[in-house]
Amino acid sequence: MSAISKALLKWYDAHARELPWRVGPARRKAGERPDPYKVLLSEIMLQQTTAASVAPRFPDFVRRWPDAKAMAASDLDDLLGEWAGLGYYARARNLHKCVREIVARGRFPESEDELRALPGIGPYTAAAIAAIAFDRPSIVVDGNIERVAARLFAVETPPPAGKRELKEAIGAVWPKKRSGDFAQALMDLGAGVCTPRKPKCPSCPLAPHCRARARDDVETLPRKARKTEKPTRRGVAYALFNERGEILFERRPEKGLLGGMLGLPGAQWAETGSRAQDEHFAPFEKARWARAGTVRHTFTHFHLELDVMVAAAPNSFTIGKDWRWIAPEAARLPSVMKKAAALAAANWRDNPQ
Ligand code: ADE
Ligand code: SF4
Repeated sequence: MSAISKALLKWYDAHARELPWRVGPARRKAGERPDPYKVLLSEIMLQQTTAASVAPRFPDFVRRWPDAKAMAASDLDDLLGEWAGLGYYARARNLHKCVREIVARGRFPESEDELRALPGIGPYTAAAIAAIAFDRPSIVVDGNIERVAARLFAVETPPPAGKRELKEAIGAVWPKKRSGDFAQALMDLGAGVCTPRKPKCPSCPLAPHCRARARDDVETLPRKARKTEKPTRRGVAYALFNERGEILFERRPEKGLLGGMLGLPGAQWAETGSRAQDEHFAPFEKARWARAGTVRHTFTHFHLELDVMVAAAPNSFTIGKDWRWIAPEAARLPSVMKKAAALAAANWRDNPQ
């Protein structure tokens, strides 16, 4: 056993948190084994949540559904009701499916691969159940464990590439015995000692082995992922003016970005292609378009550069059913369309056709 796992397990023997789903080190040593159903239930409940918020809720679940059979026989709606406030209800639906599948099989899967195949169980949860419930030497890596590993081994590579490196580094010291205790010891260390800010290194059992501490670099690790550059999409928006200075707006389709809002007609915004790809926007063929300028707007996932074209409505122009003439300052518009309409209106005032 590595010096690191020895030191951490010794610390866990003395400092393990008492959690309602956990069989602590003393009971473990006395021969008690964790109930796989409770391990599964706790790990699903703990996804995207902290131990502190799950701990008070867990006993109610176990009282109501003491084993997999009981939960499999339950009504999904009852489970969803009990789940209230825990968030991400898909987890409860998957849990229900998962438990039914286990009961239908007649045995609880023990290997990471078999567990992976169950509904709602991803790589992390499969490894956690295999390690905690069955003491398989599965390498369990959650956010807390990643942070501990990044510091302990001074892993500089940011995610996503860094994730593999972290798993390999911690895997190299992962013990063959007491795998579940080791995983939970790392979780406890990450939650209470090797915290995101101001880790308590002086009371850390891994301090003598910690590379980040040795070089006085604990708070700059783990490295953050570089923000991915947002792509830029381009589009064209067409502002057609009538003789009263009103602009023709369309109601956008219900689905998609700015769904159901008013907007200037135009093409689908695309990341490639020429800006004026839509010059011959069908209903306005007879209009003589002039370029008013470009507006820029940033959405959650992309930047938009929108060329704004202006023209007078041709004689005998009839409008479609989802279109309306509205004075630019009177229209209730999403921000990007407000910018485009303002630019079009200013341009139109200065250069009326
Ligand atoms: N977070 C996820 N699984 C956990 C566990 N078994 N103990 C403590 N915190 C956890
Ligand atoms: Fe984390 Fe400090 Fe312990 Fe290193 S010594 S593992 S940085 S708490």
